[in-house]
Amino acid sequence: MEIFRTIAEYRDWRKALPSGRSVGFVPTMGALHAGHMRLASESRSADSDTVVSIFVNPLQFGPSEDFSRYPRPFEADAKLCSEAGVAAILAPEAADFYPADFSTYVEVAGLDKYLCGASRPGHFRGVTTVVLKLFHIVQPHRAWFGQKDIQQALILKKMVRDMSLDLDLRIVPTVREDSGLALSSRNVYLNPDEKTRATALSKALFTAKSAWEKGERSAAALTNGMRREIEASSPTRIDYIEAVSQASLAPIDTLDGPAVLALAVFYGKTRLIDNVLLG
Ligand code: PAF
Repeated sequence: MEIFRTIAEYRDWRKALPSGRSVGFVPTMGALHAGHMRLASESRSADSDTVVSIFVNPLQFGPSEDFSRYPRPFEADAKLCSEAGVAAILAPEAADFYPADFSTYVEVAGLDKYLCGASRPGHFRGVTTVVLKLFHIVQPHRAWFGQKDIQQALILKKMVRDMSLDLDLRIVPTVREDSGLALSSRNVYLNPDEKTRATALSKALFTAKSAWEKGERSAAALTNGMRREIEASSPTRIDYIEAVSQASLAPIDTLDGPAVLALAVFYGKTRLIDNVLLG
């Protein structure tokens, strides 16, 4: 497995790949877990060479967020990638990736107004900017993202379409612990008690999903039920619990088309997100 620390080194490798080979790409910020490895494994089954990027992107963190304490276990990440048959890791230094006078940003207007976009201003502009730049560098045929970050995945899908990027963006179902807790690099921040309480998130989502399967279409009925179940787990703060349209991510009153139930909830200082797709 190759490890590239500069864009130039990666580009030399990419140019030397025989033309018949296809490249699958899994962008990450490291602290890899089984969810990332599932993306890598899907990519490996679809493409001949899988590239994983590991880059904690300063542009997508707000001033009071966890950029400096975000976990960076590079050796462990590289071992996981190597065992998973990844062809190359691109782990650029921030100074190589963003020149000191960097001033070009990409914004997908509209979809970033809701859910996490409302509570993390500038976050999605940071994500779309870094991912577009990574796509240009990596030159993938396919790129793989997890459903846990559904808003990110749908915004990036729209960017691919709006900018006529020549790649196929795939969304892979969330990987969960046996308790139902969605895997996330931020779960390492949770103490054992918070981790147990946080299982209320997936339980509330699955209860709402089964009510929807039985015919409940009222957003208020579904989200109020979720709120009650989550409040019983003594969260530190509920950021949002919402029913939104899959197409626009705007809040809806009635679930009469493809919808998402999505939430962001704090346990201690850790903000967790999760969702289910309906229809
Ligand atoms: O999902 C993530 O880990 C990040 O938002 C991404 C897509 C790697 C961009 O920094």
